Order: sequence, then structure tokens, then C-alpha cells
Amino acid sequence: MTELNWSISFDERISPEGMPNAAKVDDYANFHKKSIKEYKEFWAGLATELDWFKPWDKVLDDSNPPFYKWFAGGELNASYLCLDRHVKSARKNKVAIIWEGEPMEDGKPKEVRKLTYYDMYREVNRVAHMLKEKYNIKQGDVIGIYLPMIPELPIFMLAASRLGAAFCVVFSGFSSDAIAERMNDAEAKIIVTADGSWRAGKMLDLKSIVDQAMQKAKTVKNVVVVTRTRNKVNMVEGRDEYFEDAMKGVHTNAYVEPERVKSESPLYILYTSGTTGKPKGQVHDVGGYMTLLHATMKWVFDIKDSDVYWCMADIGWVTGHSYIVFGPLMEGATEVMYEGSPVFPEQNRWASIIERYGVSVFYTSPTAIRGWIKGGEQWVKMHDTSSVRLMNSVGEPINPEAFKWLFRLVGREKVPFGSTWWMTETGGIMISHVPGLMMLPMKPGTNGFPIPGIDAEVVDEKGNPQKAGERGFLVLKKPWPGMPLTIFKDPNRFVDVYFSKFPGQFYAGDYAVRDPDGYFWVLGRADEIIKVAGHRLGTYELESALIQHKAVAESAVVGVPDEIKGEVPVAFVILRQGFIPSEQLKGELKELIRQQVGPIASLKDVFFASKLPKTRSAKIMRRVVKAVAMGMPPGDTTTLDDEASIDEIKNAYAQLSGEVGKK
Ligand code: WTA
Repeated sequence: MTELNWSISFDERISPEGMPNAAKVDDYANFHKKSIKEYKEFWAGLATELDWFKPWDKVLDDSNPPFYKWFAGGELNASYLCLDRHVKSARKNKVAIIWEGEPMEDGKPKEVRKLTYYDMYREVNRVAHMLKEKYNIKQGDVIGIYLPMIPELPIFMLAASRLGAAFCVVFSGFSSDAIAERMNDAEAKIIVTADGSWRAGKMLDLKSIVDQAMQKAKTVKNVVVVTRTRNKVNMVEGRDEYFEDAMKGVHTNAYVEPERVKSESPLYILYTSGTTGKPKGQVHDVGGYMTLLHATMKWVFDIKDSDVYWCMADIGWVTGHSYIVFGPLMEGATEVMYEGSPVFPEQNRWASIIERYGVSVFYTSPTAIRGWIKGGEQWVKMHDTSSVRLMNSVGEPINPEAFKWLFRLVGREKVPFGSTWWMTETGGIMISHVPGLMMLPMKPGTNGFPIPGIDAEVVDEKGNPQKAGERGFLVLKKPWPGMPLTIFKDPNRFVDVYFSKFPGQFYAGDYAVRDPDGYFWVLGRADEIIKVAGHRLGTYELESALIQHKAVAESAVVGVPDEIKGEVPVAFVILRQGFIPSEQLKGELKELIRQQVGPIASLKDVFFASKLPKTRSAKIMRRVVKAVAMGMPPGDTTTLDDEASIDEIKNAYAQLSGEVGKK
């Protein structure tokens, strides 16, 4: 449904300065060709750089596609890779995480915690010990995590993986219903939360949200509460326990042997929105996933021991799982982890963080950059950000203007700066510049090329390669390490959603175009998923929430362009007999979405109509609804999906726009 609402130029080229790996497109294309021809050997070469307890029997078990097993039979442990390895090396007392809390005092951050690899190792061991002894967590179990951006979040993730248990993190902007739904599906045994968290100067009361979720979460028996804000929370006797209390009696030097887990066993389940139905639990493995992260940390971020790395994402989303927790820690990097809003208390907060810690590798998002542009460049200029030597963006297409702004103000018009395309499903970066390997000229807004070992293509409706410059669907043609094992408890859906549109190939659900030089440009979603400030939401989930209101007979939610957030949802609602449109009802529906899905899904607007435009097979004509919401004509082409003629589309548009008063 989404398409860019800005123009791009295929011809604009910028070469970063001083890159020892500067290369030509042909050099890269040749290298890439070889890497995908021999992709199994190629990935095996990278996997040998990890520490395995037992080597794999087979690089790729492809006996039951699309359920692939990478490095089948091999044994390893993700927490061992992120901690034990470094503790045995000169990195033992190197700082792993510099954490900064949001509140400020006298112009300085009130709380900063610096945890070395040895600190992390000791704490993860202690927490693993506690989880095992107290809550009997073991391989095969799932623990739920609803924590804000505090060090205990990666600590619990690593502790679970040390035990061979899987974890399921729920983003702290999701509501109690969303938590309960995920905990029930994942069959989580316990949930870890906090007494609160700071965001934009406000305290988020996470514990009460969990309390509500607990009324519906059937499998969760205990709640562990980490102290963050010292907010008074309600503790249920026998069910809830403060983290500090749970840890009492755990020896300061507790050690838990890292479980030797199979490469193809689950590391975590992360729920993500799909086109239809409930959020899908993506199950990621250990061996393939860690191999992909190792490769991308090296190639895409060019990570070195001397770097200070900062990924601004929230760990509640896949970007944080891969590029705050497992990737950088596996590589032994020093990283910044920040609790709150990057523009609190003022627009310069993020730039002050770069200056304070001398951040050298920076991973950000288009939404963040657009917000900063609006705030004004004087805020950036207050700080020395010249430590930055490499930047990347993620989450949505980056508009050339946002690219150029950050490239000028922080990149000093010379550092490598890319837009990394990937998804929750892919586990790690798939299409990107690879400055750690070879640096090609940049183009503002492009994603660059598939990374080595990844066979991506833009295809037409029939699955044939699309011509240069023509829009098509993005597919991945070969299995890759880091791909999901399945959708949790729903293997049929895994096949249906990703491997049936173009049999045997992974259908990403994005529109993309390749330019005449072969660069990929991802244009936006081809389905009913929207990206609100980079956060992935399914319009279906919002529609299912709206329908629960007694006044609502039917609804359609679409994303409309937003200057800062990229896209925001608006709803079209058909009321049941006996209900009439009112401002109050609009307010109730907006509130319902906040309650059911969470504040990140807040509706920008609600329109009342008497009917929704439908195709012959009763599918809502989303293109028409969206055009009306945007006050723009629906265009004069039809697509196969429309099942309607131009006239029908025009009529439907005229009727709906007339009714909701938008033209
Ligand atoms: C979009 C986030 C263009 C895309 C890691 C994809 C992007 C969806 C980019 C996945 C980018 C992510 N350029 N589009 N650099 N990065 N996307 O699962 O539509 O939250 O399908 O994973 O985000 O969102 P998800």
C-alpha cells in the first residue's frame, strides 16, 4: 500500500572520503556473484569464526524446505559468545555497555552505569542461576520480558539464552492486551518487568500494565519486578517478587555452565505484525542468527575494538535484539544504551550523547532524523559530533533530504552512511552498503546491494526479474543464516505468508526497484502493514480492536504520509444502526486503540462513512480508502489486486470522499 511520497535520483553519487575499501560496482558484483553461487561454503567460512562447542554435521539441512536448519548438529551458546569469550581475553574489563538514564540534573545525566564484559558476565551468571533455581527455567521454556531500556533487559535475555531457554520480549509501548496475547501464544512461564521507566519526562507505569495483562495471561505464574523508578507498585503475594529479593542469597560469584544448545534450537520468539491475523511469533535460531550478526557487524558497521557504537533502537524491536544485544556484544564492542527520548529535555540530547561518549559508529532512523530537522540544526551544532566515522539508518525508506541533513551535520559530508534494509523475519541486515568490506559510492536514499551471501531480486507479479527502473516485489531467493525457523506453533502460516506467492522464494512484502547501476531501493510495503515512526503495525490489528466497540460495524485502517513519522494510521468506520457520528465517539475509538494495541498505534483521525469500497471478492479497496484519506485521486492504473476497473475505482473514490468530506 505504501509508496514513497518523495522523489529519488538514481544518478546522484557521493563517495565517502578516505575509505580504504573504496570499490567499483563491478568489483563488488563479481565478489557477490561468487558468494551466492557457493553460499553454503561461504556462510560456513563465517560460522567457523564463532566458538562452537561441537562443530556442525551439515552446513545446511535443506531436507524439508522452507524449514531450513543452518549448521545442523552444531552446538554453541549465545551468552557464551557474547560474554565468556571476551572474559577469557584482554576484553575482560573493557566496557561493554555505557547506559544513560533519561532524567537530567544540573545539565548532566543523573544516572550513568558502565558495565564491563566481566560485570555483564557475573550478572548474567547470577541471574541465570536465580532463574534456574527459583523459577526452574530450563531448556525448552520461554520467559516473557516487558522491560524498558535498562541494562537488566540484555542481562535477562542473555541469562535465558545461557540456560538454553527462549525469551519473548514485548516492546514497552504495547498495551496489556498485546502482552497477554503474546505471552499466551508463547506459553511464557514467567514475565520480567520493572516498576517503571522514564520516557520524555513521564513515568511509564509498566507494572500496572503487566498486572492487567496477568488477568488474561494463562501460562505466566510469576512476575519479577526490576526496580527502576522506585514507583510504588502493587505486589501480589506469592506471584510477584522484586528482582533484588529474588537475587538475595545468590552468590556474587555464581556460575552457570552455558547450556550446549543445538544450532537449530530457538533463541527467541519475537512477535511481529503481518498482513492478516494475529501477530506472528518469529522463531530465530542460534547458529545461523549469530553467524549473520557476526558478518553484518563486520561488513556493515565495520566494528573495531576502538569504536564506541550506538544503536538508537529499542530492544523491544528486532533492531535492538540484533544490533544492541547479540551483535555488538558478540563482537566485544563498547556500546551506548540510552533509556529515553533522544530529544528530552531538549532537541540536543542525542547529539550530547554522541559528544559525551565519543560515539564513532551510529545507527539511527529516518523518523528520528526528520524530527531533528524540524527541531533545527543549531541543536546539533552545539555539540562536537566529529567522533562519528560511520552511520546507518533503518526501519523505513530514508528520504534524500533526511540523508543529506545528517550526512552534512554529523557525517561532515565524508563518512559512509547507508540505509540497511531488513525485517524481523530476516534476523539481520540483508541489503546494505558494506563499508567494512568494500565501499561503493553512496546514493541518498538507496539501500545499496544485497550483502554477500544474500541472493535478493526485484520481481514482477509472475516472479520474473523486473527491468531496471521498474517497481516490483522484493524476494530472497536462497535460504540465509538468520532466517526464522518457523512461525511459532503455526508452520503452515510460515509457508503461506512467505513462501507461496513465489514458490521456493522468500516474499518480503516490500516494493522495490533496482536502478540501472544495480542499486536496490526499497519503496515501502506492498501489503497492509504500516510503519509508524519505523514501528511495524498491521492495520488488521487496529481494525480488530475497533470492531470491539459497540458502535462499530466495520472499519478500514490505512496509513497516510506524515512529515515526521513517515506514516500514521487513520480509520474509516461504518457505524451500527442506532449510532451516530460524534466527536465523542471519535475520541472513544482513539482511546480504544491506545488501550488495545498501545500508544504507538494512536490514530491520527477517524472518518465515518456509510459503506466501504469493496472489490467483487469483497476485499476492501485499500488504495481507494487511502487516496481519500490523503485527499488525492487514486491514480489511473489498476493492479491485479484491485479486481476493479478504473471507473469502479473512480466511483468508489467519489462516493467515499464525498461522504467523509475529503477531496
Ligand atoms: C521496512 C525492521 C526501507 C520495510 C528492521 C520492511 C525499510 C520493514 C528499511 C520491516 C530500510 C526496514 N529502507 N525500508 N532501510 N528497513 N524497512 O520487521 O518495509 O520492524 O519490510 O524490521 O521495515 O520492519 P521490521
